[in-house]
Amino acid sequence: MLSEDAIRAIEGVIKRYSEKRGGLLPTFHIVQKDRGWISEEAIEEIARILDIPPIEVKEAVSFYTMFNTREVGKYHIQVCTNLSCSLLGGRHIVDYLERRLGVDVGKTREDKRFTLSEVECLGSCGTAPVMQINEDYYENLTEDKIDRIIGSLA
Ligand code: FES
Repeated sequence: MLSEDAIRAIEGVIKRYSEKRGGLLPTFHIVQKDRGWISEEAIEEIARILDIPPIEVKEAVSFYTMFNTREVGKYHIQVCTNLSCSLLGGRHIVDYLERRLGVDVGKTREDKRFTLSEVECLGSCGTAPVMQINEDYYENLTEDKIDRIIGSLA
């Protein structure tokens, strides 16, 4: 179930479009901020509010990798392992985070605090290696820097 606030925000956004479906992408952002991910149940609700078939919502949400279609932890850590980041230690960053957090890549830790994912280019190749935690980017990563970042989340 979407929160009352999320539903109000979606209704506010779709008023800006001549057709309700125009508000699909902003709606995904609202739902992800509200719930942390976009579930099958949320897809049904979005379809109802935007007055479009659920399959259309599902196709759109699965197209954009920035939207979570599975439940994630409080902190979703996405590490880029594309070319520039890999050359500068992106794979090592993933291994380090797996050990540091006690969670395998592609998984959520049991306490639901951290989800660790490997992703394609985050568009910040000049500051590789890079990771994203929820909405924030962290660049020029080293083990020390990661320790400070993870410590600040405690
Ligand atoms: S290759 Fe990692 S941000 Fe582009």
